[in-house]
Amino acid sequence: MGKNTPVLIEEIAEPPGPRESFGGTIGNLYHDSAYEQATTALQEVVVEARSSSSHQANAHHAQVNTMRARSSTSKNLALKARPVAAPLRNPVYEDAAHLIAETQPSNPVHLMRPHVLRGAAQWFLQHFPGTVLYAVKANPSPAVIKELWASGIRHFDVASLAEVELVAGLFPKAKLHFMHPVKSREAIRKSYFNFGVRDFVVDSAQELFKLLEETRGAKDLGIMIRLAVSNGHAFHSLTGKFGAENRLAAELLQQARKVSPRVGIAFHVGQQTMHGKAYATALAQVGEVIRIAKVNPDIIDVGGGFPVAFPGLVPPDMHSYMDSIKEGFEALNLPKKTKLWCEPGRALVQESGSLLVKVELRKDNRLYINDGFYGALFDAGYSKLSYPLRALRTDGAMATKMAKFTVFGPTCDSIDVLKTQLTLPADIEEGDYIEFGQTGGYAVALQSGFNGFGADAKAVTVRDMPLLHTPGFWQGEEAGKTAAEDDSAQAPATLVAF
Ligand SMILES: Cc1ncc(COP(=O)(O)O)c(C=O)c1O
Repeated sequence: MGKNTPVLIEEIAEPPGPRESFGGTIGNLYHDSAYEQATTALQEVVVEARSSSSHQANAHHAQVNTMRARSSTSKNLALKARPVAAPLRNPVYEDAAHLIAETQPSNPVHLMRPHVLRGAAQWFLQHFPGTVLYAVKANPSPAVIKELWASGIRHFDVASLAEVELVAGLFPKAKLHFMHPVKSREAIRKSYFNFGVRDFVVDSAQELFKLLEETRGAKDLGIMIRLAVSNGHAFHSLTGKFGAENRLAAELLQQARKVSPRVGIAFHVGQQTMHGKAYATALAQVGEVIRIAKVNPDIIDVGGGFPVAFPGLVPPDMHSYMDSIKEGFEALNLPKKTKLWCEPGRALVQESGSLLVKVELRKDNRLYINDGFYGALFDAGYSKLSYPLRALRTDGAMATKMAKFTVFGPTCDSIDVLKTQLTLPADIEEGDYIEFGQTGGYAVALQSGFNGFGADAKAVTVRDMPLLHTPGFWQGEEAGKTAAEDDSAQAPATLVAF
């Protein structure tokens, strides 16, 4: 191996472990006169609620213009305070090796690949048989949202007022769907009145009531019912926090139909779902809810959960997920006008990002690096997710012999340690770098800045390919090879020895 040759490493696979929910969900807009039939007690309750809060509503109305003015000048209000990676208007490098050669960064760097975002977005737009909503929580960096927009994504699953403000600030014409089943009253009001959000998800009668109350009995809502479905094929389960069981979901669907022209059923099969049939199974459950409710939904939303490849966690061909969704949807035999939605987060962004960290110290087989559990490596500190890795050195070759290391993050907290040992060149030492692949989702978004670390992380653009390919996904199609078929497919096309 030549001088300064970067070493490509695939982390040793560990069995998947469960993880808890991040929460969140979807929505859209239009109107139908079938709504006029609404006559129920629920409506009366809404009217009552409306009058009791009418003075509050007037005061709120006055606030609307101020808010509008503010939101047009100050974009991305709440998220601005968080250490979100900077827009892609940043230096462009061929790859991590070139970046290190030129800058030898002291802080962690997010390497972002706009071409990969485009590939993923276009693959979904082409292969998903319906509307694709980007789940903003996966990576709220404005640069990412802009790139997805430029790739044709127009719908966004937002889960908080801050996300509404962020996306509406960037793209006032974006179609926002508020898919968190528990929203603050303020978030409902401002989303509806200030930002034109019409679609909201609920999984309880209380939230449905809150929604109707805060929108003053609006007649143009799209109300989605979040159904609790099995997360049995997911690496990160999202069960136990949100979602109504079949009977409650059916009741909510009936109630929603009485007050809304547009109703739907949404679910989430869990993050990084490792088998496409999870979607068909959940869609069969949707059929059961429809039979109980005797209400045909206007929208079926299959949520997120689409995977990407990680070492030891390579999903089946992505086309099989689409096939399963198509089959499950067709089996419902719903009227032709019924819409199908999905809300991918991870699959749209994960491959586009990698994280470059520096080794600050080595003590025997323990490495101390400058990012960790409280930074962009939350997943590696919380779960046994393994990342594709690449070790880089500025001024010499690294050993080809590998060894296992326990890797600590930079904060003082002893839980700031990666869950699994990393396999790295045996001679790795202070000043060397490690690139973690597949960090485009749930990494930037989770950086906390705790202890003063992480907030300084910079973003740069790189031109190389992701460290790992996902079978059947856009790169697979392009390259004709997948991680499952060929290990050498992990080698970036532009890997440079310097
Ligand atoms: C409601 C909802 N939709 C979409 C997503 C995105 O899921 P994924 O990243 O698995 O595609 C999430 C993630 O937690 C979610 O909670």
